[in-house]
Amino acid sequence: MSQQATTVPGTMRAAVLRDITKGLQVETIRTPRPRFGEVLIKVAACGLCHSDLHVIGGAISFPLPAVLGHEVTGTVVELGPGNEHSGLQVGQHVAGGFLMPCGQCEACAAGRDELCGPFFDLNRLKGCLYDGQTRLAAQDGEPIYMYSMGGLAEYAVVPATALAPVPGSMELVPAAILGCAAMTGFGAVRRGADLRYGETVAVVAVGGVGTNIVQIASVFGASQVIAIDVDDEKLEPMRAYGATAVINSATQDARAEVLRLTGGRGVDVSFEALGVPDTWKTALDVLADGGRMVPIGLGAGVQTAGVEINRTVRRSQRILGSYGARTRQDLPAVVDLAARGVINYRDVVSRRFSLEQAGQGYEALRHRQVQGRAVVDMSL
Ligand SMILES: NC(=O)c1ccc[n+]([C@@H]2O[C@H](COP(=O)([O-])OP(=O)(O)OC[C@H]3O[C@@H](n4cnc5c(N)ncnc54)[C@H](O)[C@@H]3O)[C@@H](O)[C@H]2O)c1
Ligand SMILES: [Zn+2]
Ligand SMILES: [Zn+2]
Repeated sequence: MSQQATTVPGTMRAAVLRDITKGLQVETIRTPRPRFGEVLIKVAACGLCHSDLHVIGGAISFPLPAVLGHEVTGTVVELGPGNEHSGLQVGQHVAGGFLMPCGQCEACAAGRDELCGPFFDLNRLKGCLYDGQTRLAAQDGEPIYMYSMGGLAEYAVVPATALAPVPGSMELVPAAILGCAAMTGFGAVRRGADLRYGETVAVVAVGGVGTNIVQIASVFGASQVIAIDVDDEKLEPMRAYGATAVINSATQDARAEVLRLTGGRGVDVSFEALGVPDTWKTALDVLADGGRMVPIGLGAGVQTAGVEINRTVRRSQRILGSYGARTRQDLPAVVDLAARGVINYRDVVSRRFSLEQAGQGYEALRHRQVQGRAVVDMSL
């Protein structure tokens, strides 16, 4: 039996991508309904992440038409069947993580949500949920695919495995960044790097995700956090998030500066948060002997980066890719860090757009005009 709040309208507004040459357009489509193990939320806000830009720009292919948007907060309005043990209630505030584990595959059984096979195969490649169907449709019934939960809409169906309760004391709109930008930062620090107290860190590219890596590395006890970017405006607020130094790699020699700051050693851990050869090079250049480089940035399609073979081998350096986090364990931990004020989620959100302005928001992101994160605020 599903449990539903009284009024869920039959149609809703959503930002739909039909054609990459035309961009996002707001349409009235059917309101989705949750199936087994799924929850319908009324979306409060959805963050604008660079990963969506790869799809909007056509660099990463995805079935169209589609609704993008994969870091959300909202209020539970309907529980599908099979939620008896999810602990979720109608009326509750929740954050939705982009990485939605099926909960049933071998990787999920091992707690490795980030490696969930059905998530890649059915959602990232086919835009569907775990019965192989999308929950979204145009008014004439034409299927519309979902990038994660399809958060750029008034309502979204989310598997309960990807939801964490958000306490009433938290501001729901900026908390949208928890489901990707902050969760990915947590995954990189906690899972990818397994950062230890006192280690030194560099973060290359401090956009939405990189800003969160800076603050999470700092609260995990890094003795130095060196923020590196090509944009002074992005670097300027980094000290407030715990950076101990900032470097503009467009105007300064990042390797020389990091060596100077670390007594000639380089950093124990370098995070890369853009996904281009240039940032990979910087992240490897600043790494100490025996260090760990943790790449988070996704390339625009199939992309490769140069790695100096002998240096990596002879200096026993490790490259540890990190995708999202273990949603079921880590998203509640990230919400808790934000709720207790250990990490700052409010100030990370520097710009708010209405659903109609979502396309403009992504254009601003493409042109590097977004400090931290921009969100679509559904109340605007
Ligand atoms: N691994 C994951 O789970 C995961 C999750 C979310 C996002 N991503 C990926 O992470 C990357 C970052 O996403 P975001 O939303 O933070 O992007 P963003 O657009 O907010 O930030 C990008 C930053 O890179 C900086 N930059 C640009 N060129 C640079 C250069 N040459 N050197 C240093 N800095 C440079 C920009 O000034 C900006 O601050 C994207 O590739 C995105 O697809 C990965
Ligand atoms: Zn994202
Ligand atoms: Zn799985």
